[in-house]
Amino acid sequence: MSQTGPAAPSVAQLEQVKDAVRTLLHQPEYDDGSAGPVLVRLAWHSAGTYCAETKTGGSNGAGMRYEKEGGDPANAGLAHARAFLEPIKEKFSWITYADLWCLAAVVAIKEMGGPEIAWQGGRTDFTDDTKIPPRGRLPDAAQGSDHLRHIFYRMGFNDQEIVALSGAHNLGRCHSDRSGFEGKWVNNPTRFSNQYFKLLLAHDWKKKKLDNGLEQFVYVDEEIELEEGEKPEELMMLPTDMSLLSDPAFRTWVKRYAEDKDLFFDHFSKVFAKLLELGICRDASGNVTNAENVEDGYKS
Ligand code: HEM
Repeated sequence: MSQTGPAAPSVAQLEQVKDAVRTLLHQPEYDDGSAGPVLVRLAWHSAGTYCAETKTGGSNGAGMRYEKEGGDPANAGLAHARAFLEPIKEKFSWITYADLWCLAAVVAIKEMGGPEIAWQGGRTDFTDDTKIPPRGRLPDAAQGSDHLRHIFYRMGFNDQEIVALSGAHNLGRCHSDRSGFEGKWVNNPTRFSNQYFKLLLAHDWKKKKLDNGLEQFVYVDEEIELEEGEKPEELMMLPTDMSLLSDPAFRTWVKRYAEDKDLFFDHFSKVFAKLLELGICRDASGNVTNAENVEDGYKS
């Protein structure tokens, strides 16, 4: 097939975008001081709609720019991530939204101390909402291991990959005005580590019913010495996080990742790269062949 699209960006051009992302991560007024976690969630939700059987959904298209996907309650809060990236898209208009969202997560993970993740560009942006898959494909945090398998097997992941991916909950927090859940999983939510797995195993997590009726699991460190007026810090787990402990096949991986940070980093790096490629078909030279409009795609 002959392609008439623009040449793929040079290494130097990509480096400029990555630098711009690095600079933007520092957001002292936002959450825990970093845009990183919400950018990671943006990339994950952009790709996590994939269905391997029907070959629909996935990281191509940047469908969240449209109400049909962007207005999905499962994506509540991700407008913040998109807004953070908007000045970069304005400055480097050659990069597509779909590529920028994925690349920003890769840069953020590395900057927050995580592994290097392989990334390839070439995604295109939908020009209307007709190829956006139906809502309901992203996981529901109130459910358990059967649900996780149903959702992630649909994308083509196995048990080990489900646990590795869940390790992203080392980062960021839940917001009562977004998902309805509240709090962070680890003490330092802007540092990528295997702490999430260690904490899952280490503590006796207690069920807590929130005012909105949702149930999550919490742990309060009673031992910690507090200044006067200071409240003890409460960490949280979602019901889906807890199912990684109660399901024997998942639990094996929780233990391995808690014990071996390098193994977790290695597996996370591979599985996150796989996630970002969901729904993307490439030819032998890496050119995307299923783009909305191949003529607009990159050619190498
Ligand atoms: C946050 C659910 C898997 C990355 C959240 C939140 C929920 C959630 C409810 C809180 C959203 C908010 O209130 O702002 C789930 C469920 C999963 C899952 C049920 C199924 C296993 C993943 C995966 C990744 C990921 C696979 C990435 C690889 C994140 C990040 C945040 C987050 C980084 C923090 C966002 C922020 O700080 O704004 N997740 N998630 N999650 N999730 Fe997940």
